[in-house]
Order: sequence, then C-alpha cells, then structure tokens
Amino acid sequence: MKYNNQSPIAVVDSGVGGITVLRKLYKLMPNEDYIYFGDSANAPYGVKTKEEIRSLTVNACEALMERGVKAVVIACNTATSAAAEYLREKYPDFIFIGLEPALKPAALSGENPRVLVLATPLTLKEEKFDKLMARFEGKAEFIKLPAPELVKFIESGDLDSDEELAYLEEILAPYTGGRVDAVVLGCTHFPFARRCIQRILGENVLVFEGGKGAANYCRLCLKEKGLLNSEDREGTIFFENSDANKVEVSKRMFYYKG
Ligand code: DGL
Repeated sequence: MKYNNQSPIAVVDSGVGGITVLRKLYKLMPNEDYIYFGDSANAPYGVKTKEEIRSLTVNACEALMERGVKAVVIACNTATSAAAEYLREKYPDFIFIGLEPALKPAALSGENPRVLVLATPLTLKEEKFDKLMARFEGKAEFIKLPAPELVKFIESGDLDSDEELAYLEEILAPYTGGRVDAVVLGCTHFPFARRCIQRILGENVLVFEGGKGAANYCRLCLKEKGLLNSEDREGTIFFENSDANKVEVSKRMFYYKG
C-alpha cells in the first residue's frame, strides 16, 4: 500500500447512494481526486447478512487500497455497521471514514424531539445502532423505520418516480401531520428522496443526514496525517461499478439537483 498526499480518496457504497457523500466530499475538497466504487450488482446490502456485507465491503476496500488510495470513505451506513470495525483493526494506520445515522444533531435539535430514523433493516438491527441510540436516552424519542424498497427505487436511477412516491406515502403515513419533529436519513441512498420525504412529513420537520459530517471528518483525518492535497487544481472523479450499466447513471446522479 503506497500512497501520498496526491493519491485519490476512495468512496465505496453498495450502489449509487454513496454519491450523496461524494458530493459533500467534492464540495469540501474539490482539488482532491476520487475513485467512486458502487457495488450495484450486489445491492441492496441492507437485507443481506452481516457476514455477506462484511465480505463484500472488505473485498472492495482492499482492492482499492492495493491501487494506492490514501483513504477509504465507506459511504454506506450498512457497510460501516458490518465492516468498519474489522477493517480498522486489520489496518490500524489507514484512514477509514464510516457513516452512521446522524442521531446526535437530531436529538439535540429540540426539547425531547420525536425522531424518525429511516435506514436499512441491517443498520437498524445492529447492536452498534442500539448503542448509538442509548447515548441519547432521555434526550429524544427515536422511532426506527426500515425502508429497504426505497434503496431499490433509487438504485434504478429513476428518481422522483410515482412508485417511489406511493411507497414513501404509505410507509410515512403514520408520521405525518406533526407526529414527528425530525427525520434522520440513516442510509446514504435516501438524500436522493429528501425533497419527497420532506413534502410528505411537512416543511416543519427537520431533516438530518450524515454526509457532510463524514466529509468534514475525512478532511480532518487527512490533515492530521499530512495527506491533504495542497495543490490548487480541479480534482477528478472516476466512477466504477460492479454493474457496468450503472456508471453513466452514477455520473448523472452526481449532478442531480435534489
Ligand atoms: N447506502 C446504504 C446505506 O447507507 C445501503 C443501501 C443498501 O441496502 O444497499 O446504508
């Protein structure tokens, strides 16, 4: 594993969802180069076993590390739950940035707010999530809502479809009309449906996602290790996907104004 401050940053996800994180990274560090790998051939991850997800994630990360990337952003809450700890133990000197549902800002956003957490079934059933939730006990009331179908709609690249809207209206129906104060988008695919979710739940509901925090943390880690690219240049983004048809979709989604 040879890398330096000019090496690219890898961003991995089960599919196209991590592009929401890549957008935040590129906004913050536009002079860096990125390799985005989406594993759409194996998506969705959120309904697989932890062992399967770990093995897919570790293989993807190790392949990128061999190519000399200077950090890996695991831009997927599900893959982070299943594999981040394992990877950090195996490669203690390497930078792995994980994603986790943004419970903290949501919990602190009001007086004992009711917070709806939308994520994949795997993320919500992991002990890691329960431990995170326990940190804010007494400060907020969390309601877990798995939304595996939403990943499939977003993977199709057809954002804002009628089917997607109908699905969201159905699962969010019990929480409309001011019954929640905030919603956490605990899956990196979901910010692509942010507008739709906001419209259904109401404009007063606060929406939280983890991409920006992860991008800030990535920058901090690179800085601490002297690995930030200091050149004044425009960075490149190289899109790769285990499903070749998804490469063009990924590029389009990177520029999606949603
Ligand atoms: N984007 C992923 C996440 O943040 C999961 C989507 C999937 O189920 O593949 O959890």
